[in-house]
Amino acid sequence: MAKILVTGGAGFLGSHLCDRLVERGDDVLCVDNYFTGSKNNLVQLLDKPNFELMRHDVTFPLYVEVDRIFNLACPASPVHYQHDPVQTTKTSVHGAINMLGLAKRVKARILQASTSEVYGDPEVHPQPESYWGKVNPIGIRSCYDEGKRCAETLFFDYHRQHKLRIKVARIFNTYGPRMLPNDGRVVSNFIVQALRGEDLTIFGDGKQTRSFCYVDDLIEAMLRMMDSPAEFTGPVNIGNPGEFTMLELAEKVLQLSGSKSKLVFKPLPSDDPRQRQPNIELAKSQLGWEPKVKLEDGLKETIGYFRRLLS
Ligand SMILES: NC(=O)c1ccc[n+]([C@@H]2O[C@H](COP(=O)([O-])OP(=O)(O)OC[C@H]3O[C@@H](n4cnc5c(N)ncnc54)[C@H](O)[C@@H]3O)[C@@H](O)[C@H]2O)c1
Repeated sequence: MAKILVTGGAGFLGSHLCDRLVERGDDVLCVDNYFTGSKNNLVQLLDKPNFELMRHDVTFPLYVEVDRIFNLACPASPVHYQHDPVQTTKTSVHGAINMLGLAKRVKARILQASTSEVYGDPEVHPQPESYWGKVNPIGIRSCYDEGKRCAETLFFDYHRQHKLRIKVARIFNTYGPRMLPNDGRVVSNFIVQALRGEDLTIFGDGKQTRSFCYVDDLIEAMLRMMDSPAEFTGPVNIGNPGEFTMLELAEKVLQLSGSKSKLVFKPLPSDDPRQRQPNIELAKSQLGWEPKVKLEDGLKETIGYFRRLLS
């Protein structure tokens, strides 16, 4: 029974990860400061003997004995990470330092939930891991993008300098049940607007593309990454390469939810990338992984979740 620490475990991805780890019999310690996460995401685990929940802010050191650490703590949507940008950078950078320090002390293997945002507004399409990115260091998204880039730097320096066993996963847009209804991410936005009968907001002309990975696929890749041979550090892209325009996504949501809402167009926010699509060849070859859930099936699950939540 491995002792596993999940930071940010009360959030969207973290809670699904805790579900899987508890189910397979690991001893899971989840820490979260509940900034964007909630105990509601974990009620199904609270009475399990192999699950423990602790309120803790990762910008402060943590002293626990664990074998493995999944470091997910960090607000992930622009609405939340821009709410207190200084705290966002602190969470990424101080959080990484604290968790790497812990991993060093207890000789744990540690995985960083990094992001496709490290590629910024990419000039290379789709993005392979070897691409260094085009990131604005002083814009409104920088607290998140640069915070995550610095966290990657710290991971690799701890690896080189202290021989820490690290794993870096660059997560692309992921969606599914337990996303927050008000976090401004496009999938939850469209679904909530459609279910409430409100207009669906499209930023720009709606021709910018995104690829969307369903949460179950993502968690499977994270587990495989953590269990992969020690010499495979990543960074590795995890996401679904299937690419859709915002207009296509909006129309799919309307169709699957049976909503009669209309589309309205608003100006693009600054630094919004035009295109983002993962190259997942490395994940395929090193982890034997590729996403399985079709957008339509994932959207149905997610719409079902929001229907229950809003009713
Ligand atoms: N969902 C995606 O599409 C996506 C894409 C790329 C990367 N990621 C990364 O995956 C991780 C999880 O994202 P998510 O979508 O589940 O977001 P989320 O906001 O639902 O989860 C983040 C969790 O971290 C907690 N948290 C924030 N600051 C903290 C702090 N200082 N101390 C302790 N806990 C703190 C929040 O309360 C929340 O429970 C994040 O690191 C994010 O950057 C997610």
